[in-house]
Amino acid sequence: MTALPLSTARILLIIGGGVSAYKSLELIRRLRERGASVRVVMTAAAKQFVSPLSAAALSGAPVRDDLFSLVDEAEMGHIELSRAADLIVVAPATADLLARMAHGLANDLASTTLLATDKRVLVAAAMNVRMWLHPATQRNVATLAADGVAFVGPDEGEMACGEFGPGRMAEPLAIVEAVEHALARPTLIPLPAAAASKGPLAGRHVVLTAGPTFEPIDPVRFIGNRSSGLQGFAIAQAAVDAGARVTLIRGPVSLPDPKGAEVVRVQTALQMLEAARAALPADVFVAAAAVADWRVEKARDQKLKKGPQGAPTLSLVENPDILAEIAKPGTARPAFVIGFAAETENVLENARGKLTRKGCDIIVANCVAEGTGVFGGADNEVQIVSPSGTEAWRRMTKAEIAKKLIGLIALRFGVRT
Ligand code: C5P
Repeated sequence: MTALPLSTARILLIIGGGVSAYKSLELIRRLRERGASVRVVMTAAAKQFVSPLSAAALSGAPVRDDLFSLVDEAEMGHIELSRAADLIVVAPATADLLARMAHGLANDLASTTLLATDKRVLVAAAMNVRMWLHPATQRNVATLAADGVAFVGPDEGEMACGEFGPGRMAEPLAIVEAVEHALARPTLIPLPAAAASKGPLAGRHVVLTAGPTFEPIDPVRFIGNRSSGLQGFAIAQAAVDAGARVTLIRGPVSLPDPKGAEVVRVQTALQMLEAARAALPADVFVAAAAVADWRVEKARDQKLKKGPQGAPTLSLVENPDILAEIAKPGTARPAFVIGFAAETENVLENARGKLTRKGCDIIVANCVAEGTGVFGGADNEVQIVSPSGTEAWRRMTKAEIAKKLIGLIALRFGVRT
């Protein structure tokens, strides 16, 4: 699938029955403002919240809600509705609609159209926080993600039911952004692979950076560091083993590629950032790379030579912080972002600072002082630093740490390993 501009896109909007259905009316306006054409299907419950007349007026086309309407089916049947769309957006998607989608039920026009489609589907879920966090809903979300369905939101905040937490439908402009994203990208997960994948992270996309970066000084010299990449590679392998789709962005190390991971080879921090951005959307981002803090402002084209002019002066500029960039709030932010802090002193203090400064969800902190044998060694001893506290893990192999970390990630998505 090639990128499709929103200005010529045909969107089929399925409105489910939730309080936030009123925001879908604004979504129609925002999409049409940008040139997209919008057709609307409403569930029976949706009609309790917003009137089909409003949706018809705003979309400029009749609203469909009845699978058994002879007139409507004759004009444009449910198969035709999906054929005539470039993207299906379900907003709001209720817990009930998600469950029906995940199980392939086809008991009204909305669910039948969703089952009959081979087009990309973008879901903006909205429901009470308990319903969203319920393992049944999380299972359904994981199933749908494994089928290649894209999600935007839900957002965290005060809810109509008086509770606080994730469950609010994403704002219309955020959905518009996600629509553009969905139109620009091929299906997230190739269906056969997704169908075959099992495990606690099935259907999840995990993007990792690992290894050092080499920042060129001239064609033969570089600024680098001693990172072996072992811990990051072990996490990549453990994520593949847990059923995830894994994109590993690897700096220059000589380790073999983890089996089953998509691998992007990079040398510099700038290339690593570009590759990380290109790998999104993702559910999880793990920044295990030891990125060089600085690069040489102007790497020389030719090898620097010794001579009477004396030692060269290298002017350094700061590299972007890949972790902080990817962790920035927004629709493209992966749901779970993990950073590392390799320190030689004040490990916890520095790790806590990084957690807030870089905006990640947890920091895996370890001491790499001389004598610990962590750099290049098989073992590691880490502390997991999160906003809610610190957990020290005993010394174990990097493969064991990777597996334990995957357990932590799965738990974040409501799956106990
Ligand atoms: O600031 P420091 O390098 O100690 O932070 C470590 C964490 O930040 C690691 O997770 C590392 O992968 C990430 N990082 C990054 N881009 C940088 C510097 C660090 O992603 N330029």
